[in-house]
Amino acid sequence: MARIAAGADHAGVQLKDVLVAHLRELGHDVIDCGTHGLNRVDYPDFGEAVARKVAAGEVELGLCVCGTGIGIAMAANKVPGVRAATVHDVTSARLTREHNDANVVCLGERLIGPEAAREALDAFLGASFEEGRHVPRVAKIDALLPNEGVGQ
Ligand code: RB5
Repeated sequence: MARIAAGADHAGVQLKDVLVAHLRELGHDVIDCGTHGLNRVDYPDFGEAVARKVAAGEVELGLCVCGTGIGIAMAANKVPGVRAATVHDVTSARLTREHNDANVVCLGERLIGPEAAREALDAFLGASFEEGRHVPRVAKIDALLPNEGVGQ
């Protein structure tokens, strides 16, 4: 069983709540970083909250949900040590664990139904990093400085 931080904005909170309940049913230890309820909030705040817990080693993995799963992944990926991936199905969820050693899985409530999201999350949790040829590639991701080259 894993320790997992979960976070969402208002556009992802309903799916996040479904997935948190699912994870707890499976016996995982979940820290729910919010949001709670449908009031409008900013997705970077929740992507950051989850990412900081992953980066600090408080949890092994993160789950982020927003409308598309994209903005919250962008925010989470700003935190060094975090590799957040937006996934849409079982295959992308499995492959991002196996090849990218993703430690935060991101889903879009406006793009995926709860059943498919649950299955993708299960595939993410059930997969593991394949190491081998993927190790130096992931090391290159981690070695990149945030925003290197942007705006210069
Ligand atoms: C909120 O309206 C929406 O922009 C957000 O949830 C997300 O989809 C951004 O990437």
